Amino acid sequence: MICLGVESTAHTFGVGIVSDKEVLSNCKDVYKPEKGWGIKPIDAAKHHREVSEKVLEEALKKSKLRLEDIDILAFSQGPGLPPCLQVGKEFILELSEKTGKKIIGVNHPVGHIEIGNLTTGANYPVILYVSGGNTQVLSLVDKKYRIFGETQDIGIGNALDKFARDIGFDFPGGPKIEELAKQGSYIELPYVVKGMDLSFSGIVTEALKKYKQGSKLEDVCFSLQETCFSMLVEVTERALAHTGKEEILLTGGVAANKRLQEMLEIMCKERCARFFSVPKEYSGDNGAMIAWAGLLGFKYGQKRFDPKKDDIDPTWRTDEVEVSW
Ligand code: ATP
Ligand code: FE2
Repeated sequence: MICLGVESTAHTFGVGIVSDKEVLSNCKDVYKPEKGWGIKPIDAAKHHREVSEKVLEEALKKSKLRLEDIDILAFSQGPGLPPCLQVGKEFILELSEKTGKKIIGVNHPVGHIEIGNLTTGANYPVILYVSGGNTQVLSLVDKKYRIFGETQDIGIGNALDKFARDIGFDFPGGPKIEELAKQGSYIELPYVVKGMDLSFSGIVTEALKKYKQGSKLEDVCFSLQETCFSMLVEVTERALAHTGKEEILLTGGVAANKRLQEMLEIMCKERCARFFSVPKEYSGDNGAMIAWAGLLGFKYGQKRFDPKKDDIDPTWRTDEVEVSW
């Protein structure tokens, strides 16, 4: 069985094609906001519309398949920016009309988790899902990805991007902060863990203040990472202890960060747990993760997307999805 998946929730327009056991192609084109700005949803949606045919062609070519070879279609139904989700929906409806194939609506975070399980071989792990818009610690319990802890304000990726933007760097800011942090040393920043939840926006404000008061940029970047990542490790470790699980899966765009990987690896070693980090190609938003989660949903009887009754769901929570696989 072959599934084609479309991702369009935020900055990335991606098309991925998967078979029952592997990824056949994974192509994307990423919208870059103007300097000094965050994502403008209308502009991102325009970008997605413009590149959609090109990305589809690339994905088909790379997989050596034709549209007629596809058995099921999948798209990111939510959560995400409404104008961007809308482009994905329209695109998949057109493909469905052309091919006569059924559509599965995929929850975007579940896509990040399932491509992680596929590409790392993780088995019922505690998941740390860290991206621009999301920061959640989850685990599969009674057929749902239950959220053990999450951010109370912005996602860790957005926090890093906001800090970077305010000091004049382009999007995405995460990789630049990672680079600068390598030369930095620690200065104190607030550490905000409330029960199992986290909060990042006050830390960003404080980091910007420290920079404006003359602290070295490298030191502020280092401390921002150390503080926020320690908070993430603390909550993940407690979820591991609480669930009695033996594996951690790190996924989402921020999973590309080597320092975060290292900190989690140290914690896992101390607890005799196994640590898995999603390969970079699949950690940020991509079409293959939607195709794979769509294929699982289809095989295990998830309700088909019916354009007459169903629609995009910009606030769809991870723990609302019935995980029947
Ligand atoms: P979601 O809808 O799941 O929130 P998203 O739209 O934020 O996804 P992703 O591609 O999953 O998209 O994540 C993008 C984020 O990852 C950006 O905030 C970016 O700064 C961050 N990021 C990418 N590489 C790194 C890195 N090396 N270190 C830290 N952050 C990184
Ligand atoms: Fe994402």
